[in-house]
Amino acid sequence: MTIATAPGKIILFGEHAVVYARPAIAVPVFQVRAEATIEARADLRVVIDAVDLARVYDLSDAPADDPIATIIRATCARLNVAPQNFSVRIHSTIPMASGMGSGAAVSVAIARALAKYFDVTLSAVEVSALVFETEKLHHGTPSGIDNTVIAFEQPVYFVRGQPIESFRVARPFTLAIADTGVAAPTKIAVGDVRRAREADRARYESLFDQIGAVARDARRAIERGDVDALGGLMNANQMLLREIGVSSPEIETLASAALRAGARGAKLSGAGRGGNVIALVDEVTQDNIARALLDAGARRVVVSQVSTNEERINEC
Ligand code: MEV
Repeated sequence: MTIATAPGKIILFGEHAVVYARPAIAVPVFQVRAEATIEARADLRVVIDAVDLARVYDLSDAPADDPIATIIRATCARLNVAPQNFSVRIHSTIPMASGMGSGAAVSVAIARALAKYFDVTLSAVEVSALVFETEKLHHGTPSGIDNTVIAFEQPVYFVRGQPIESFRVARPFTLAIADTGVAAPTKIAVGDVRRAREADRARYESLFDQIGAVARDARRAIERGDVDALGGLMNANQMLLREIGVSSPEIETLASAALRAGARGAKLSGAGRGGNVIALVDEVTQDNIARALLDAGARRVVVSQVSTNEERINEC
């Protein structure tokens, strides 16, 4: 039996604009994980057991656009092995369609588990590239940020089409991640933004430029340990996300509740329309803010510290 896992992720700054080649910052969230288990089978079948979806099916019966089947086939092709004689069980604690990268994390866990099972070393770059192919099935036109941050398990500064950059978090900081409980598929929000941009290109390009500038400032603030500056930058980013049309009443309610309870900044994270709100908290305020978020309707709140993963910093 071979097991591998992958963390969730959140986007700190720059979602949506990143699809249009502006920079974005994403960090792994280790409190939630996807897990893939590979077990040998006596017959030739490859059986997929997607525990959270209560679905058991054969690889050979999977439709062409099934993301789990796609990552199994792509990884086996890369490893030069025939997809046969094993079962894949998948379980994840990452909420689905909430902006925490559940689809990418499942794919990363499967690619890692298969590589381990067949005793081949795959680099983070290779895992990320394999998973990017399945991300296209989930998202349509993904920027690649989700597969990158999850495969590297490291804060990343991501610009589409450019080499991956990691960076050091000079002073760890803490986020409360609050789930609106509204499942919002990334593909729909990304498609709506694309149509809105086509209708008013100048306005959207300017909004994306402003989001990119916020992401650049945020990287500098994180690198110099200026946590105080981050809250204002999160609020500025949220205002721009509202302008591009991806906020929602539930997001605004949670963001306002967090700010009222003492958060230094709050914004949606991921595709928006639902999913998660992130709030910048500290040791003194975190319990109050988590309670305020739950009182305001959050389904759950995960408190996560953002820091450099020293073990993996050299992989980028
Ligand atoms: C989704 O986690 C982030 C978006 O920017 C889409 C993408 O980057 O592919 C909304």
